[in-house]
Order: sequence, then C-alpha cells, then structure tokens
Amino acid sequence: MTVYLNGAFVDRAAATVSVDDRGFLFGDGIYEVTRARDGALFEWERHLRRLDRGLAGVAIALAASVRDGLAEISERLLRENGLDSGDAIVYLQITRGVAPRTHYFPPPGTPPTVFLSASRLTVPDELRARGATAIAIPDIRWGRCDLKTVNLLPNVLAKQQAVAAGAFEAILVKDGVVTEGASSNVFVVKDGVLRTHPLGPHILAGVTRDVLFELVAELGLSANEAPVMAAELPGVSEVLVTATTADVMPIVRIDGRPVGDGRPGPVAGALHAALRTRMERQCARAGVR
Ligand code: PDD
Repeated sequence: MTVYLNGAFVDRAAATVSVDDRGFLFGDGIYEVTRARDGALFEWERHLRRLDRGLAGVAIALAASVRDGLAEISERLLRENGLDSGDAIVYLQITRGVAPRTHYFPPPGTPPTVFLSASRLTVPDELRARGATAIAIPDIRWGRCDLKTVNLLPNVLAKQQAVAAGAFEAILVKDGVVTEGASSNVFVVKDGVLRTHPLGPHILAGVTRDVLFELVAELGLSANEAPVMAAELPGVSEVLVTATTADVMPIVRIDGRPVGDGRPGPVAGALHAALRTRMERQCARAGVR
C-alpha cells in the first residue's frame, strides 16, 4: 500500500508523522474524503472548494503548488494501489504541521503536513436494499461544524453509541432540530417534499448533499432547506442520509420505531439510482481524458 506524505510516495508502514504534529496534539487540521470510481475522482472540484474554505477557515496556508497537485496525487495513489477499477475512496488530511506544543499558531512558514491515501470502498448496497437503522441523540458539537476538521471526537462518540445500539448512524439533534448524522447529512420526505437542514455553522456542507439538490431538480422532485424538528420524525414518510462513503442510504427505523412503512422508500431509491448514474458517467468521462 502506497501513501503520499509531505512530497513523497511511500509504503504505508513506513509513513510516519512526528509526535509534535499539531494534528496529533490538537486535532489541528482539515480533511476530505473523495469518492473514486474506476480510478477517477467523483466531484473533485466540489471537494477542493470545500477544502479551500476549510483551510481558510482555520488559517492553514497551503502552497498553491501543493494544492493544485492534489488531484494528480490522488489519481496516482488510485493507480499504484490497484484501485483503477471499481469503488474506492481517497482520504486527504492537512494539518498545521510540526512545532513545539503551543496553543497558539506555530511560526509563519511552518509547513503543513500533507497526507493522502487511497483505499477500496465496499459500497453498502445490501444494507441499502434492507434499509438502515439509526438512533437520535443530542448534538454536542461546537459552533463550526461547517469546517471539516479532524477534531471528530463528538462524531466518534456518537457513531460508537449508534454501533453499540446495533444502528448504522446517529442522527444528531440540537435544540429540537435535526442537524445531520455523525458522518452524513440527513434528509426527510414529508408530504412528498424533501427537506434538510440549511447550510450554516451547524452542519457540514456535504458534497453528496449538494449533488442531491441537482438530482432532485433533474428528477422533477421538490426539496427545500429548512429545519427538520426531531418531533416531526414519527410523521415523515422517508428519512435518508447521504455521504461519500454511503451514497444515499434509507433509514427505516429510528430508536426502534419504523420510519413510514418501515421499508426503503421510493424517493431514496430514485435519488440513489440517479447518483450512481451520475457517478458512472462522470468517472467514465474522466477516464477517457
Ligand atoms: N464524512 N456530515 C458529516 C459530519 C460528515 O462527516 C460527512 C461525511 C457528511 C457528508 O459529506 P459528504 O457527502 O461530502 O461525504 C456530512 C466523511 C465521509 C467521513 O468523515 O468519513
């Protein structure tokens, strides 16, 4: 397994990061998870835009030459790790670099740590066919959930609580409002209309979420960005979550209670099929280039 670390392609086992890395000490870094299909990156420009926003949001300066080479590094990792066919993900992490531990920033010019790796994705299609389950728990995270930082402890604890309960996802609830999942965005279908939390500091602007709004328009469905109250969940016909690693996943039970008729719904099915088609087309085109 070959990974990329600070300018070099190295064996994964030989790739080491300093104990003084601010990612290790403070979770002081930004990450991205990008989907790849047949060796081509899906929606790369959106991931790069979100990365730029995140780095700017935490004031990590990445040299333009490094930033502009990230797609090529990702594609090379896919090739060199035998991931040029089928589904894969590229993980990318940029931290504020290595420096003696101070809470304030290290001296200007401290190079960020840049790490990328590619791995096989087992697409959870069997679970999708059955429908997944979720728990609803309080959202205890900070006020900048729009930044994709590696500081994921609340998300880790939420996901572990879900897994311990035998569930796929934890749906996070802040002041009675469904924000998002531990590692996904959450949509409901009520009275035939899709609805999800508006963008802002309380959720991550998911790339899949973004793409879904385009697919909704193509399919002639309607969707809006408005708060979903946790108290509304018993009355919705569908709940679905979206993420790079799960595509569109129908949620058929929350806290043991069925959502709608307790089976994956038609809106989730149509959106998933449309997403998959878009992925195949986009990645096939990229492969031809
Ligand atoms: N997480 N919200 C949160 C908190 C997430 O962690 C993720 C994805 C999403 C969905 O974003 P996208 O559609 O861009 O994948 C929403 C990734 C997959 C992860 O942490 O592994």
